[in-house]
Amino acid sequence: MAILLGVNVDHVATLRQARYALLPNSPNAEPSPLEACYDALEGGADSITIHVRADRRHMQDRDALLIREKISAPLNLEMGVTDEMMSLALQVRPEFVCLVPETREEVTTEGGLDVASRRREVGNCIRMMQKEGIKVSLFIDPDQTQVEAAAELGAEMVELHTGCFANAIGGDVAAEIERLHHAAVIGHQAGLQVNAGHGINYQNIRLLDAVPHFAEYNIGHSIIARAMRVGMVQAVREMKMLMQ
Ligand code: PXP
Repeated sequence: MAILLGVNVDHVATLRQARYALLPNSPNAEPSPLEACYDALEGGADSITIHVRADRRHMQDRDALLIREKISAPLNLEMGVTDEMMSLALQVRPEFVCLVPETREEVTTEGGLDVASRRREVGNCIRMMQKEGIKVSLFIDPDQTQVEAAAELGAEMVELHTGCFANAIGGDVAAEIERLHHAAVIGHQAGLQVNAGHGINYQNIRLLDAVPHFAEYNIGHSIIARAMRVGMVQAVREMKMLMQ
């Protein structure tokens, strides 16, 4: 089955906030995350991903609500496991949420959620989302313990963190692919949908062909960077072509 592409448009909001964070209602505020979603979908994105962080450094609540209102493609809301974000998710009503760890200092999501040692709060969040018809993905490191904990808690999906794979050099690349392979097989056997995300780009995506069972890639930074040269529609189209 073809692997689906979820396009993360957070960085469009990052650029807007760089100038307009203190002028949220300015008619000049640009670029528009919503327009980026339209372009991504035109380029062949299968879903849109946005992350509303606790510090609102890029996506704002109103972005999430507007994008939800205007696009009919599946929406994946990445969020920390907090009461504030759970209540936002219930307002936005995305098809999926992806639970991620969050620390204020990090530049981006730097490690997977430690599901195994946060079972109670993660389990509560999963149940609350599922009760409202929202599917849950857990963003985890490709470790057996984390995959098994995700399955035990009843999540529908895991997103394996590909950051270590993306940053690996030389012989470490094969080792990271092996880690992903092992985690993907265990996840699939446990009945989980297995996705991947973080640091995937136009070069390293080919190497992920060696890993079975991936259903969806979530890609942000590399596509937005490419979009600066060729435009968003074309950048997404090129990534889709590599995936085929
Ligand atoms: N998946 C998750 C859970 C993320 O937090 C991020 C980064 O926001 C991505 C995927 C996309 O990573 P990148 O921007 O490196 O493609």
